[in-house]
Amino acid sequence: MLGNTFGRAFRITTSGESYAGGFRKNPAIPQELYGGQMVIIDGVPPGLKITAQAIHEELDKRRPGLTSVSTPRKEADRVYIFSGVMEDDLSTGAPVGMIIPNSDIEDVHIRQHKENKNLVRPGQASYTYYKKYGRYYDWAGAGRASARETVARVAGGAVAKLILDKMGIDVIAYVVESHGIKAAPVTYETAKANYRKNELNCPDLHKAQEMIEDLEKVKAANDSCGGIVEVVAVGVPAGLGEPVFDKLSATIAHAMMSIGGVKGIEFGEGFKHAAMTGSQSNDTPYFDEETGKIRFRTNRAGGLLGGISNGEEIRLRIACKPTPTILQQQSTVDITKRKSIDHVFASRSDPTICARIYPVCEAMMRIALLDAIYMAEGYKSISSVIDPGWDKL
Ligand SMILES: Cc1cc2nc3c(=O)[nH]c(=O)nc-3n(C[C@H](O)[C@H](O)[C@H](O)COP(=O)(O)O)c2cc1C
Repeated sequence: MLGNTFGRAFRITTSGESYAGGFRKNPAIPQELYGGQMVIIDGVPPGLKITAQAIHEELDKRRPGLTSVSTPRKEADRVYIFSGVMEDDLSTGAPVGMIIPNSDIEDVHIRQHKENKNLVRPGQASYTYYKKYGRYYDWAGAGRASARETVARVAGGAVAKLILDKMGIDVIAYVVESHGIKAAPVTYETAKANYRKNELNCPDLHKAQEMIEDLEKVKAANDSCGGIVEVVAVGVPAGLGEPVFDKLSATIAHAMMSIGGVKGIEFGEGFKHAAMTGSQSNDTPYFDEETGKIRFRTNRAGGLLGGISNGEEIRLRIACKPTPTILQQQSTVDITKRKSIDHVFASRSDPTICARIYPVCEAMMRIALLDAIYMAEGYKSISSVIDPGWDKL
């Protein structure tokens, strides 16, 4: 399998599957080492305090089984830091390695997956993984395509957060739409004030209730639904992003679209730009006497021009599809028998992925931003060697 690393200077590499650890159960191996998720974080500067507690604060946001609108799976999501951190929890500059064991690998669940290993699961990655990895493909709990993989990203993003916090850069993500029910538009300040005030983490507290009641009905009907998550980054300096292929908009889109279940992304006014005129779309600049900076009167571009941050907040939205696993009879194919059949897949699942995807979006956004900062700062320092006044017009 290729493509398990994201980022250039600050980067994470993840490994781990859903239930594969269940095949290594052996009294000679401590339970924590059967299997789970691993992340190696490259580019961590020395002297950063990294505690398991700081990582848990982020992991707990996406832990399953905590709310009525997430899967009943009980995954403990406890992190073990095993490298790159030494005395007084301070990083040494070496790669930081972490493992998050999967504590929920009951034989009964593996058996359920084994019984259906030849059946193509609608909406899931089982058919495409089978085409790519043939008879060796991981059929147990979606393998590497499982949302369990995202716990390793969140651990990596938690380290990026520790650094971004010191730079005054904040990233938050929250639900703005569920099953067609739309929240009112929010400022960063309101979203921050209402952050995680309900099970869905929707900052429109009134609409959130409506969304949650609707989700209960969807769940009772053994169905699932999709939604939209908004991600906002504030305090981002102007000048991040490397034209032309590594535009910040492109690397953020890469980060978001690599998360399972994400079907679309838009920055600022996004697809609405298509129906606008130039005068409606342009964000006009002005000189802010107070800060001495060039600002923009509106932010329809979502904080990015030419793929480079313009100093305004970066605002984007992702569209999440409905959770593929539903407790309903659906048509499918038995690969070995080469036959179309109907089947109900018994499984534990999220009625919506929105309630658990937002911390993953935050993590990926932080990693993409910190990586862009490393690139921009490196380039800037070399430019200053050539001409110390390069940035004065
Ligand atoms: C946080 C999170 C939780 C998810 N939970 C489930 C789940 O419980 N059941 C399921 O079938 N898919 C779940 N998914 C979605 C699948 O991972 C995804 O739809 C699948 O791998 C196919 O990939 P694609 O939708 O990107 O094509 C979840 C995704 C995320 C990010």
